[in-house]
Amino acid sequence: MKTRITELFGIRHPIIQGGMHYVGFAELAAAVSNAGGLGIITGLTQKTPELLAKEIARCHEMTDQPFGVNLTFLPAFTAPPYPEYIAAIVEGGIKAVETAGRSPEAYMPALKAAGIKVIHKCTSVRHALKAERIGCDAVSVDGFECGGHPGEDDVPNMILLPRAAEELKIPFVASGGMADGRSLVAALALGADGMNMGTRFIATKEAPVHDNVKQAIVNASELDTRLIMRSLRNTERVINNAGVERLIAIEKEKGETLKIDDIIEEVAGIYPKVMIQGDMDAGAWSCGMVAGLIRDVPSCAELIERIMAEARGLIAQRLAGMLAA
Ligand SMILES: Cc1cc2nc3c(=O)[nH]c(=O)nc-3n(C[C@H](O)[C@H](O)[C@H](O)COP(=O)(O)O)c2cc1C
Repeated sequence: MKTRITELFGIRHPIIQGGMHYVGFAELAAAVSNAGGLGIITGLTQKTPELLAKEIARCHEMTDQPFGVNLTFLPAFTAPPYPEYIAAIVEGGIKAVETAGRSPEAYMPALKAAGIKVIHKCTSVRHALKAERIGCDAVSVDGFECGGHPGEDDVPNMILLPRAAEELKIPFVASGGMADGRSLVAALALGADGMNMGTRFIATKEAPVHDNVKQAIVNASELDTRLIMRSLRNTERVINNAGVERLIAIEKEKGETLKIDDIIEEVAGIYPKVMIQGDMDAGAWSCGMVAGLIRDVPSCAELIERIMAEARGLIAQRLAGMLAA
């Protein structure tokens, strides 16, 4: 399939694997890229720029296809050394960067000077337009369904994607709730040039996470996510578990007086416990409502081939058939 996104990133299929903390290691990024999508290493999961350089080198050993790096700009007490991370990305020969969180404006000159294509992930039309204005090549439009940080506007993709299509000139991918060929065809119909998936890619053979995580996603229904940290204006969609129930009880008790320190034990340092040790009740970890559509753990190649075959069938048979009738 050829879209503005496949052309922009030099990939065979318009499918991107979004950056995911403690999931987006070289194994997953390489598997997605080898299957014709765009795999993405999560930059900040690597504790230092030197470690990111090593992870990029490891990924180059596993694939000769294009892959990217995610750089998430979050409010932090001590900001990570972003210029050094960008230097590792540039020196690693990376040509695609997915930015997320705050605006990447300050880093655009460095990224553009290195010939890197920047896709910024955002949850509103106004942030997407800002990304376009500051020179991003594409955006990933993350609807309210998404795993991770859906923002505070609560607009689901059925509205957000066509709104983005009305306003944007640069190409965008649909993100949040995407799982299969139906998602891809719907995303294209709503004006996107491809799709970005997070949660779906965790439940794959190559995702280097504990099997308990994959099983939790397979077992979860679309009713099993919760929104946390709303009153802190740092909303995150996570899968429900004992740690999240503890957290929500604290949120209810504290109400508007909640501070991050009140829930720190349920949100800080959780990812290695969940993703590496498989401790499923350790605390909050991001997961999308799309878990309700995930029922197996295929390889990335099986998954992407299945999506593309289903999408082709939907367009050429179901939809074309309705027109012919
Ligand atoms: C476990 C997990 C960790 C994530 N970590 C990050 C991250 O570190 N940076 C980021 O930009 N997005 C992160 N995301 C968001 C994904 O890149 C993607 O935008 C989102 O999962 C899309 O929604 P979906 O899960 O419905 O496919 C994470 C998502 C999940 C499920």
